[in-house]
Amino acid sequence: MEAQNTQPKKQRIFSAIQPTGVFTLGNYIGAVRNWDTLQEEYECIYAIADLHAITVMQEPAELRKNTMQAFALMLACGMDPKRSITFVQSQNPHHAELSWVLSCSTMFGELSRMTQFKDKSQRHADNINAGLFTYPVLMAADILAYNADLVPIGADQKQHLELARNIAQRFNQRFGETFTVPDGYFPKQGARLMSLQDPTKKMSKSDENANGCVYILDDKDTILRKFKRAVTDSDTEVCYKEGKDGINNLMTIYGAVTGKTMDEITAEFAGKGYGDFKIAVGEAVADHLEPVRSEFARLIADKAYLTECMTNGAQQAYHLTSKLIRKVYRRVGFIDRL
Ligand code: TYM
Repeated sequence: MEAQNTQPKKQRIFSAIQPTGVFTLGNYIGAVRNWDTLQEEYECIYAIADLHAITVMQEPAELRKNTMQAFALMLACGMDPKRSITFVQSQNPHHAELSWVLSCSTMFGELSRMTQFKDKSQRHADNINAGLFTYPVLMAADILAYNADLVPIGADQKQHLELARNIAQRFNQRFGETFTVPDGYFPKQGARLMSLQDPTKKMSKSDENANGCVYILDDKDTILRKFKRAVTDSDTEVCYKEGKDGINNLMTIYGAVTGKTMDEITAEFAGKGYGDFKIAVGEAVADHLEPVRSEFARLIADKAYLTECMTNGAQQAYHLTSKLIRKVYRRVGFIDRL
């Protein structure tokens, strides 16, 4: 008799990040750090979402450079091409193909409700292109093409994930069970890191004030400076409370990089001022990111290795999505593809 494989099948994870510059501390704590730890238990697939990046104006040479950089950063943050599939989205053409099919199962009204579309159309009023509008369909295609069970993301992508679930359910209802309906996976702390300069706004690369956003390749002095200037309040006590947005955000960051609870942090800084606390947060973040910075420096100098990893990753990704794409094409009524 043949030996039975009794290993339970691992659940599958998919996530992606846009190559629009160095990752922010928000990207890192909200998503990418989770990607790393999930590699232990799950079958993970991680992409650099360059197709998404062209929904806003990009200089082609710059985009190519940023994509290479983002790929290196993803590896520097712990993604291991031997354990997980790491690739660049445009190198697997199935994403764009599936996106078209899914767009015919997505309603105009649904896309019109996406808050990120509304925000981005305000910020890029001179370039409200159709891609910006249909972007969440492409994101659904990314996830559904792999039949992912879980999607580790920050809170700002929750609405897009909900839409992906609705699209999957609608397609399944109409054409029969085809897609896994994915769940979001959010960090316990830091699903939405806020700007250090305006803690009511999300930390983002598009922050007008450069001190509001920490980048994971910032050097220690820069990180310390940004935290020292972080906006807080007129109170003096380091404690997590409604209305203390700046301190709450700093405590979240400190907790995320040290593993300490809010109570532990409050106890640690009892009787000390905000100044000491801000320095401690800056130090902890800089120390935490130091290995990422040095690993990035090593990897970015080795273009041959990066290209090899990308090519392997794209081949694995393509292989993985081929069967499902065939199934989808057959279900919607296309003649078998070559
Ligand atoms: P992107 O590139 O804007 O951000 C990458 C990840 O970082 C998270 N994030 C944050 N988390 C906490 N606090 C913040 N201030 C913060 N800013 C960003 C985001 O939630 C995200 O998880 N559309 C996606 C990329 C994408 C994708 C996908 C994600 C394309 N296809 C499929 C998941 C599955 C995006 O633009 O993320």
